[in-house]
Parts: sequence; C-alpha cells; structure tokens
Amino acid sequence: MTPKEPATQPAQASAAPPPAPAATHEIPFTRPSISALEMRAVATALRTQRIGGNGPICKRVQQLLAAQLGVQHALLTPNATQAMEMALLAMGIGPGDEVLMPSFAFVSQANAILLRGATPVFCEVDPATMNLDIADAERRITPRTKLVMPVHYAGVPADLDALTKLASERRLELFEDAAQAYGSTWNGRPVGAFGRAGCVSFHETKNVTSGEGGALLTNDLEFARRCELIQEKGTNRSAFLRGEVDKYTWVSLGGSYVVSDLLAALLEVQVQRAAALNKARMSLWQTYYSGFAELEQKGLLRRPVVPAAARHNSHIFWFRTATPEMQRKVIAQLRGSGIQATFHFQPLHDSPYARKSMKLTQHLPVTEREANCLVRLPLHGQLRKKDAQWVVDQTRKAFQSA
Ligand SMILES: Cc1ncc(COP(=O)(O)O)c(C=O)c1O
Repeated sequence: MTPKEPATQPAQASAAPPPAPAATHEIPFTRPSISALEMRAVATALRTQRIGGNGPICKRVQQLLAAQLGVQHALLTPNATQAMEMALLAMGIGPGDEVLMPSFAFVSQANAILLRGATPVFCEVDPATMNLDIADAERRITPRTKLVMPVHYAGVPADLDALTKLASERRLELFEDAAQAYGSTWNGRPVGAFGRAGCVSFHETKNVTSGEGGALLTNDLEFARRCELIQEKGTNRSAFLRGEVDKYTWVSLGGSYVVSDLLAALLEVQVQRAAALNKARMSLWQTYYSGFAELEQKGLLRRPVVPAAARHNSHIFWFRTATPEMQRKVIAQLRGSGIQATFHFQPLHDSPYARKSMKLTQHLPVTEREANCLVRLPLHGQLRKKDAQWVVDQTRKAFQSA
C-alpha cells in the first residue's frame, strides 16, 4: 500500500469522490512511526540467524503483550484476520451456526464466519459510536446463534457490560474484534478478552505496528492450547518446545498462523513504545475533536461519542456530515488541498459478495445512512500538531464552500 492509498476496504464505485483541484500541502492519511530502535532490533534479529516462526523473540513479545493487555495468553498471528479464522475454528463454529456482527465492519470478520460454513448475521450500529447496536443484535438471536462478534470501532470500545451480559444470559460465545483498539479500556480494563477471546491487529495503519501482524488474546488456557495446535499446522509442536512431549505430531486440524522472529523483533519495540505511540495520537485526536465543536453546534457535522466507561487509543478520528452528498464534497475538497481524508467501511450486507453469494436483500437503514456520511481524517504518529490544526482549518473551509 503506498502512502497515497488510505488503508480501507475496497470502495464501491459510488463512493468515489469527484475530481478535485491541485494540492497545496500533502498530508498522508497514515504513516507508521518507525524509529532507529526498531531498525536496530531488526538488524540484531537478523544477526542471530534464527528468524523462523514462533521463536524466542515471538515468545518474549507474547509475554509482553499478555502483561500489557492484562490477559493470560497472547498468541502472535500473521494478522488479525488469521487470529479470527483460528479462533472460530477453535470455537467449533460450523455449518448451521449463526454469528452476530455489525454490518459496518472489516470484511475479514465475515470471511472468517463463512470459511467455517456458518452464517454472518449483519446487525445495525449505534450511530453515536458506530459500534454494534446491541439491542438490534439481541432481536436477531435464534436457536442457531452461537457467537457475537463486536468491533471496537476507531478504538472506542463497544459496551462490554451489555455484551458480556448478553453473552452469558443467552449462552453465546463472545469474540471481540479489537483490531483497532490496542490499549483501549472499558472500566479501566484493556479490551480484547472480556469474552472467550479477541484479536488485535498490527497492520501498518495501526497505532502499534509490524507492517502486518496480529494477536489472539484469551484468558482461557484450554482455548489457548487448542489455538496453539491450530497455529502450528495441527501439531503439538508448542508442547514439544515446552518439553511436555518428547516428539511432536499431527493431533488436530490446523493451519500455519505463526510469525517470523524477524517481524516479532520489530513488534517488540513497538509494543514497548505503545503507551507513547497512543499518547501522541491522542493529542492529535483532541485537536480534531475540539476543533470541530463549533461545526457540530451549527449542525454541520457530528463528532464521535465516547462512552463514560471507555478510554480509547485515538486510532481513528471521524465525523459525519449531514448528507452523503456533503461527505463526497468535503472529501473531494480536502483531497484537493492535499489532505487524504477518506470514507470507511462500506456496509457488508450491501456488498456485491453478500448480495450475490448470500442472496441478501437486507436493509439496515441506520448503518447505510451513517456509513455514507462518515469522513476520516489523517491521524498518525508523524503528523504534527500544526498539521492537524491546518486540517481543521481546511475542513472548516471545505464546509463553507460545500
Ligand atoms: C476492525 C478490523 N478488523 C479486522 C482487521 C483486519 O486486520 P489485519 O489487517 O491485521 O488482518 C482490520 C484491519 O484494518 C480492522 O480494522
């Protein structure tokens, strides 16, 4: 992905903004924060000449992650997508099962469900946060519902009190897609493993990154052990490496969901820097948030709502325009000024694949309306405060001229 391309799902043609005038000041949507420390760590790992998967550096990073995110077990995976695929296999999700998820979500979640032969049941979002509308999800529960998969959109946690209550009362598994929410908390506790398990992503767009990468998080030892088998091609290699068995062999269905120690070396430094990386983004997020108070008072846009129990990691700053037409105009105007503003998830229930392969004719009016009005602004560790202020000024101008 080049810096020109905002990281997002494939866009639908209709979402493309009209051509814009020439740029004056380039502000990329995203840039990883890689320092000399990461470069040194990668060089050191290379010199050891032990860069295979699930090696000693991976083990160290897993321990660091578990300590930082307050979970018993963290397993590194090549990305969050594969953490989800592995988790659903380990949960035994299969044909005939239904899984509740927001339609406003990353496509990997729906793929992970379909790959198990199960059915994603697309639900509405709460317009305040763009997270799962839990009451709507509850209405869609049937005797076949096995799992609920909320997303912590933009790093702002979904209501984990309501979700854990729903999961326990209705006997559902709970898996958190915390891909965007590294370090976010709910009532002071890091998100990711309130239910059976969850995942975080270390994709290059994320606050903490190794370019590609992810982790499965769980507090359930038995579940972690099942995932370990799956991760190592269905073998008990991990138990062998711990000295628990004298040879390893094929014991379950599996895949290859391990990470090279080379990438883990880069990630180790990023995880050590996580608090600082999140803090730098928070100050930019605040610049945007306070910078748009007036436009919100005038009814021109709506800013995100952060629930009282939530602390977020400032992964994304977004707002919504009053109409889809305004969304397109504002994005085009900002891009004309060199600011890579962009839309986000195109609702999955309305995607070409869901319409065709799942034969869906479903409408989710809140999701459709809100997704078509959502604008994301550049937010990353290399953005300076004065750049963020300039983005605010240009956005105000964009609203004036639109
Ligand atoms: C909400 C959400 N879930 C899952 C993913 C997939 O993460 P990965 O690229 O690590 O597979 C992303 C990636 O952007 C995401 O935003």
